[in-house]
Amino acid sequence: MIKIDGKETAANIKAEIAAEVAGMVARGEKRPHLAAILVGHDGGSETYVASKVKACEECGFKSTLIRFEADIDEQTLLDAVDQLNRDEDVDGFIVQLPLPPHISEQKVIEAIDYRKDVDGFHPINVGRQSIGLPCFHSATPAGIMTLLERYNVPTKGANCVVLGRSNIVGKPVATLMMQKGVPGDATVTVCHRATRNLKEICRQADIIIAAMGVPGFVTADMVKEGATVIDVGTTRVPDATRKSGFRLRGDVEFDEVAPKCAYITPVPGGVGPMTIVSLMRNTLLAGQKAIYK
Ligand code: GUN
Repeated sequence: MIKIDGKETAANIKAEIAAEVAGMVARGEKRPHLAAILVGHDGGSETYVASKVKACEECGFKSTLIRFEADIDEQTLLDAVDQLNRDEDVDGFIVQLPLPPHISEQKVIEAIDYRKDVDGFHPINVGRQSIGLPCFHSATPAGIMTLLERYNVPTKGANCVVLGRSNIVGKPVATLMMQKGVPGDATVTVCHRATRNLKEICRQADIIIAAMGVPGFVTADMVKEGATVIDVGTTRVPDATRKSGFRLRGDVEFDEVAPKCAYITPVPGGVGPMTIVSLMRNTLLAGQKAIYK
């Protein structure tokens, strides 16, 4: 069994990006600039955004954090998005999700200029990804594909089962796994709440990508010997022994599943660090105008 080290892979890629940025700056080019909008004080979002700002520093990017209280009205947020769309110094930006329930996430996502949409959530980027055109790939699916690539996990012709059909992970990772190329060329099945025989479907899988947000959902009886298991779950569960009062749990019952696997990602230290590094790569591409002019 090989434990996929997302933390180490992410650190390597950040160093590669930092070297590229140093070269850009030495040539007199502009330092890539990522902006983030954070609404409210959700604990998870605070942590993610702080990690994104720190990663920007490590990559040599400029970063700007714009904060609003949770009671901000939708129009004020849309105006802030518009301002970032027009700001020539900002290469890419994100609006951290989830947003408070009185604000339409879809409306906000569609207000972002797709050329600065480094989250890859805008319908233009989603659509371009689904037909294999150059675009910003959303960060978690891109991070998963990079791990499969760097660990040479065979995907061609593999049965890949994706658990979960969210717009952020399940749907886009299914699209990437089925696309032509390496990694890709897999036969993909997407399972969700209404799926019958889910356990049997999982037992046929060469690769399971678990993205349901249900801690410990994937148990050893669902996994074939020699399978690869990618755990996207990051649910906070109470843990009195931690200073924070919680710990992260994945969707996979790691201890019992790992011995059966060819490759498996841990939580934390698997997909999580890769998500942030994929956002950094998108920001670099935005700064270089490598996808859209
Ligand atoms: N919330 C959870 N994941 C993400 C992400 O990748 N981007 C944004 N903007 N919000 C998120």
